Amino acid sequence: MRTHGDFEFSRRDLLIVGAASLAAPTVAVTAEPSVAKAQAVVPGAPVISKVSFNVNGKARELEVDTRTTLLDALREHLHLTGTKKGCDNGQCGACTVIVDGRRINSCLTLAVLHEGDSVTTIEGLGMPENLHPMQASFVKHDGYQCGYCTPGQICSAVAVLDEIKAGIPSHVSADLTTLPQATAAEIRERMSGNICRCAAYPNIVAAIKQAAGIQS
Ligand code: FES
Ligand code: FES
Repeated sequence: MRTHGDFEFSRRDLLIVGAASLAAPTVAVTAEPSVAKAQAVVPGAPVISKVSFNVNGKARELEVDTRTTLLDALREHLHLTGTKKGCDNGQCGACTVIVDGRRINSCLTLAVLHEGDSVTTIEGLGMPENLHPMQASFVKHDGYQCGYCTPGQICSAVAVLDEIKAGIPSHVSADLTTLPQATAAEIRERMSGNICRCAAYPNIVAAIKQAAGIQS
């Protein structure tokens, strides 16, 4: 038997308390000046959190389940359905958006991780009455058939040209001491994460080359 202050616990008492805590839901106790309040936390229940970011130039604030992907936040909460869900697993590139200047798969990241970030979706690049040069080039070169992969292709292509301008080498850059160029080989390599089931690849490469200022 052990003594702790005014209380005395036997080994049997401790075993009973331990067994009860395993059977009962987790309880968070908040101490107040005179009363200790118990608040039940149900295991596995959603945790809701606020996130504030800038999407296509507008400040947006959402309350989301912390498990919500950036893709679902854009599509289901902000109704920006231009960004597509293909595999939802990081394999197809249909969900590509630009975050703080870098392309990412929005299905692979949680919305709450983007507090304060700047997100650009296909709607933010341009609209039918005011197309981004990359969008106009895809139209000119028929860089699509069904169009499902196209928003991701275009967001990725815009970021690819920025990566090339910034001198970031790729796996096929032969000479790391010179700036990479927007050649067909560089474009194919850098766009290899964007899958097109319609196989519009030759026209996609031609569209990107033209947008880069190179005649195809
Ligand atoms: Fe994100 Fe396929 S939906 S990579
Ligand atoms: Fe149909 Fe690419 S245009 S999947």
